Amino acid sequence: MAKNIQAIRGMHDLRPEQSPLWHYLEARARAVLDGYGYREIRTPILEMTELFKRSIGEVTDIVEKEMYTFADRNGDSLTLRPEGTAGCVRAGIEHGLLHNQVQRLWYRGPMFRHERPQKGRYRQFHQIGAEAYGLDGPDIDIEIILLTRRFWSAIGLDGLELQVNTLGTSEERAAYREVLVEYLRGHQQQLDEDSRRRLESNPLRILDSKNPEMRELITGAPSLMQHLGEASREHFERLCAGLDAAGLSYVVNERLVRGLDYYARTVFEWVTDRLGAQGTVCAGGRYDGLVEQLGGRPTPAIGFAMGVERLVALLEERRDELELGGVDAYLVLMGEQAEAAGMQLAERLRDEVPGISLVTHCGGGSFKSQFKKADRSGARYALILGEEEVRRGVVGVKALREESEQQELALEQLPGFFASAVLERIP
Ligand code: HAM
Repeated sequence: MAKNIQAIRGMHDLRPEQSPLWHYLEARARAVLDGYGYREIRTPILEMTELFKRSIGEVTDIVEKEMYTFADRNGDSLTLRPEGTAGCVRAGIEHGLLHNQVQRLWYRGPMFRHERPQKGRYRQFHQIGAEAYGLDGPDIDIEIILLTRRFWSAIGLDGLELQVNTLGTSEERAAYREVLVEYLRGHQQQLDEDSRRRLESNPLRILDSKNPEMRELITGAPSLMQHLGEASREHFERLCAGLDAAGLSYVVNERLVRGLDYYARTVFEWVTDRLGAQGTVCAGGRYDGLVEQLGGRPTPAIGFAMGVERLVALLEERRDELELGGVDAYLVLMGEQAEAAGMQLAERLRDEVPGISLVTHCGGGSFKSQFKKADRSGARYALILGEEEVRRGVVGVKALREESEQQELALEQLPGFFASAVLERIP
């Protein structure tokens, strides 16, 4: 027998029994984004490698170690997108969507990073992200965070913590960087290997180290907040005041520096302690310099992305309470006459009850085996049509998910019967 070929490590199939939860999440995300006027943009999964080097930053983990990069047949260096912001900016510039305009855009889809796979961390994962252009905030910063909060309540997720910070402007960060490097150099012995490497290339990321042995050193480090200019400080204060006014509780985490280089000023993350080490379910911030850096006119920008797998894992715990939909009815057909009439009946029901999910039994077989399949399909009702029912213009209806007697309905009654069941189901 030939050897099975398996999926690539860290890349997963979405099995049919998992997809209802994804649909639940995606449908609600879309509704919330619509509610704030965001419009969907779809960009290619492959981009020129240069795009990510110039946006995410040459000395970030993503660009140094995690990208799926390869030469195209004609020698171009291409990369599977590790995130969605760079492609969104590239497309925005290319189609003239950003200059002198306000744009609220969202996207979803697979992203690729060659990280060490573990629970909540995959090599192909999915994001739903949103980006707002042309607004320098902090009103839009507040709105975008409120949007994420609304999404948590739309999917019934609670217990997430909002962390916010400001990274100042790139000039302010450069000045702070010198102070920080000086401090860290004074404590060389306490630095772990990773931090020693980062001391020259990306010292701010040292603040984000998860190594407990580095905690004391990091706590004692000078704070970027103290090195902000007046405008950045005011931006951050107004952001916090806006979050307070909206009744949103948050933690100011001065160690929140993010793993991508394009951020400036506002950054934020929504975190949970229910997912182990990979607890960030949504992250983002302001990136005012990126559009210009990629060849566009200076354009303020802010956005975020959520990790769909991590959110699904949180919702999985409450799967039974969620109204995830599924098949409304499975049509059991006994005998040739019923098979012919059944096809027509099913088409009529689909015409008259928009949104109905109806499976017609195909392939014949005994009543018992058809009924078993009806049950296995997860349908709420079995509809039973035999020669006798065809002759009398009726259908047997049996609820499959609760105890109840089989009833008989006239064909004309069926659309009314299902209309309410379908309405209950559609999110
Ligand atoms: P990020 O923090 O790299 O930001 O990713 C955002 C979210 O994607 C993370 O918080 C996490 O939930 C999820 N995620 C990241 N890597 C993985 C992985 N290997 N496996 C599973 N989930 C993962 C960005 O990507 C920015 N583009 C966000 C943004 C948009 N900033 C401004 N606009």
